[in-house]
Amino acid sequence: MKGVVLAGGLGSRLNPLTKVTNKHLLPIYDKPMIYYPIQTLVNAGIQDILVVTGGKNAGEFLRLLGNGKEFGLKHVNYTYQEGEGGIAHALGLAEFFADGEPICVILGDNIIETNVCKAADDFRKQGKGAKIILKQVTDADRFGVVEIQGDHIVGIEEKPKAPKSNLAVIGIYFYDASVFEKIKGLKPSGRGELEITDVNNFYVQEGSLTYEMLDGWWTDAGTFESLLRANNLVASTGANHVRASLPQAAPVAVGDQIR
Ligand code: DAU
Repeated sequence: MKGVVLAGGLGSRLNPLTKVTNKHLLPIYDKPMIYYPIQTLVNAGIQDILVVTGGKNAGEFLRLLGNGKEFGLKHVNYTYQEGEGGIAHALGLAEFFADGEPICVILGDNIIETNVCKAADDFRKQGKGAKIILKQVTDADRFGVVEIQGDHIVGIEEKPKAPKSNLAVIGIYFYDASVFEKIKGLKPSGRGELEITDVNNFYVQEGSLTYEMLDGWWTDAGTFESLLRANNLVASTGANHVRASLPQAAPVAVGDQIR
């Protein structure tokens, strides 16, 4: 399976931080934001990675990442998105890279505490269709939100005013090669973008969309609030843990005992 990191867009919600640099180059605690999604792919056993970027600072990604030596990679692929046509538009640029193989797509501002190794293995076995990952949230109206009947997803709404569940679709998606034909059939949404939620709904209609729940925390980092949260979460627990169990709280000294 190949991997695609989507790091285009203008990051306008973070102005003026994004006036002279790309959102995905901003720091999250001790690393640039884009390190985390790349590490998520590498931890899931994905070595062949494309970075889709855009804007005025695209060259900085090459300077920062080179051929991915820091991640144990031999090579990183890059492509350029003109403008801000939406997540599905950026993904459409990966068609030649994917070359008929299944892909794992991650949004460049999505950071997770643990890993998606199980979901990746399950999708390798699934072979076709798509898989998404869900997380319970308290602010569902900021995200793609699923409607579930029994244990089946029957629809997904993008930033609904009245969410039908508290389960957000996180920005890590597994697709078969038919995703690119689906993208070609999309029309721009109300906000003028090709929406990844519309792509996922095509798979819902086909009956080929599966899902898993994520262990540990998840956050995006595209607003001041979520950028601060991402920094605090990474500083307090670290991110991209590969071991099965979550990190335990550090021992606390109580009197002369250590608990
Ligand atoms: O974080 C998860 C959420 O991400 C999902 O729940 C939503 O369904 C999905 O639409 C998306 O929502 P956002 O509105 O938060 O996406 P945003 O516009 O912030 O874009 C997220 C990343 O996608 C961004 O960091 C880079 C990439 N992107 C985005 C756009 C609009 C591109 O590469 N090109 C683009 O044109």
